[in-house]
Amino acid sequence: MEEGIRIIITAPRTKTGHYANECPEAQNGNGNGSSGKKPNPFNRGQVNHVNVEEVEAQLDAVIVHALKTWRHFLIGNHCEVYTDHKSLKYIFTQKELNLRQRRWLELIKDYDMRLHYHPGEANIVADALSRKSHVNTLMTGELPKELAEDLHELCLEIVTRGYVAALEIQSTLMDKIREAQKTDKEIATIKEKALQKLQEKWKSTAAPYPAMYSSFLGGIILDPAMMALPIDDHMVHRGHGVFDTAMLLDGHLYELDTHLDRFLRSAAQAKVGTPFPRDTLRSILVQMTAASGCRKGSIRYWLSSGPGDFLLSSSGCPGPAFYAVVIPSDYAQCRHGVRAVTTSVPMKPPLFATMKNVNYLPNVLSIMDAEERGAFASVWVDEQGYVAEGPMVNVAFVTQGGELVLPVFDKILSGCTAKRMLALAPKLVEAGLLKGVSTQHITAADAKRSVEMAFVGSGLPVLPIVEWDGQPIGDGKVGKLMLALSDLLWEDMKSGPDRVAVPYK
Ligand SMILES: Cc1ncc(COP(=O)(O)O)c(C=O)c1O
Repeated sequence: MEEGIRIIITAPRTKTGHYANECPEAQNGNGNGSSGKKPNPFNRGQVNHVNVEEVEAQLDAVIVHALKTWRHFLIGNHCEVYTDHKSLKYIFTQKELNLRQRRWLELIKDYDMRLHYHPGEANIVADALSRKSHVNTLMTGELPKELAEDLHELCLEIVTRGYVAALEIQSTLMDKIREAQKTDKEIATIKEKALQKLQEKWKSTAAPYPAMYSSFLGGIILDPAMMALPIDDHMVHRGHGVFDTAMLLDGHLYELDTHLDRFLRSAAQAKVGTPFPRDTLRSILVQMTAASGCRKGSIRYWLSSGPGDFLLSSSGCPGPAFYAVVIPSDYAQCRHGVRAVTTSVPMKPPLFATMKNVNYLPNVLSIMDAEERGAFASVWVDEQGYVAEGPMVNVAFVTQGGELVLPVFDKILSGCTAKRMLALAPKLVEAGLLKGVSTQHITAADAKRSVEMAFVGSGLPVLPIVEWDGQPIGDGKVGKLMLALSDLLWEDMKSGPDRVAVPYK
C-alpha cells in the first residue's frame, strides 16, 4: 500500500435528513444514482429531485475545508481521500467539466491526492464527527484500528469541548514537539551551549550589573547572562512603559517612596498596570539591592504593559511586567561648573513630559545636540519663551534679587531632587543667604540675567551652570548659593530622614 495521509469524508445530508448519495429521490432502483449511467452529483440531469446546489455546496464546504485545514500536512505528501460519496471519484475521469468542477480541480491540483469510494458502514467515526450537529446523543465506541492508526500518524486527536456534541479534530503536533523538547538531550545541550556563550561574553568584561529583577522570570537574577527582556515586551517595541530611579548611597536608598509614588502616577497616566501592589514592588527593590551587595550607585525600575505580541494595544498581553536593576557607580557631589545650550529639539507635550515614560528619544537627541555644540547638556525653552527643563534634570536659578526660582512643574517632570531642594532651601532663607524660594514661569531672557544657575537631579544633586548659549551666568564662575544648596542636598542624601536601610546579609 502506498505510504501517505488518508482523509475520510462522509457525504453531506440533504434537507430531508438523508445523505445525498442515499436520498430516495435520487435512487432509481439499482441504488446507484441514475439509470445505467455512472452517478454524477455534478450533473443536474442525472440526479432528479435532489437539491443539487445544496449537495454541491456541502461537498465543496466539507472537502475544501478538510484540504485547507490540513494543507500544511497534505502539501508535499501523497494523500488518499476516502469518501462515502461514490460519485465524487469520477471527477478525475469525466470528459466535460462545468465551472464548479473546474474550480474544484484548480484547488486540488496542488495536492498529490487520490479519491476513493469508502462505504458508509466503514465510515462510522467520520459520520459521528462530521454529523455531530444532527445527532445530539452520546456516541461511544472504539475507533476502527486503521482509522486510529491514521489519526496517530497525523498526530491528530479528538478533543472534547465541554459537551460531547462538540467534538473537534485538532493537531497536537506542536504540543507534542514542545513536550518532547523538555526532555530532549540534544536540545538541552544546545541550551547549555547558548547559556555558556552568553556567560563567556560577560566573563570577558566586568559584569556591570550585580542584580536584576524580572517578574517575567519571577525572581532576582544574579547571572548577567540571564539579565534579558522578552523581545515582544511592549515596552521594548512600542515604548509602552514607565520607569523611575533611586540613588543608593552608603547602603541606603534615598527618597525611595517619593520616587515610587511618581512611578505609580506615571504608570496610571500611561495606562500601564502593575503585576504587584506598591508594597510588593518596594520590597522587591529593597531585596534586589540587598542581593546585589552593592552599596553605592542607583537602582532603576520599569513597569511595562508586558510581553505578549507585536501589536500596538496591550490588550493581547497576558499581564504587565516589572523589571529592576542595580547600577553601581561611584558618584560624588558635583562642585564644578558646566556649559548649557538651548536645544532646537522639539519639547515633549505636557502629557508626555509630566510622566516618566520610556520614550526618551527627544531627551537623547537634545543631549546629543548639546554635546555636538560643546556643551554638557541642553535646556528646553517653550514656544512662549519660558524655561522648561533639561534632558534628565530640572533647572534652578538664583535671581539678581537673591531668590531661588524653579520653573513650575506643569509642563515638565516634577523632579524629586528639585522638590527636595525647594523643601530644604528655606534653611538658607533662615540663614539670610537667600531672600525667598518659589516656582515661577520664568522666561529664558530673564533667566539668563540670573546670578546663578544649575541643573538639579538625582545623582548630581546640583550641577552649577556657568554659561548658557555662550553667555556667562553671573560672573561666569560657580556661585556660592548653588554650592550651599548642593551641600544641603548631599547631607540629606547621606543622613537625611528619607532613606531606607538596605538589609544586606
Ligand atoms: C526630563 C527629566 N527632568 C527632570 C529629571 C530630574 O528628576 P529627579 O530629580 O527625580 O531625578 C529627570 C530625571 O531623570 C528627567 O528625566
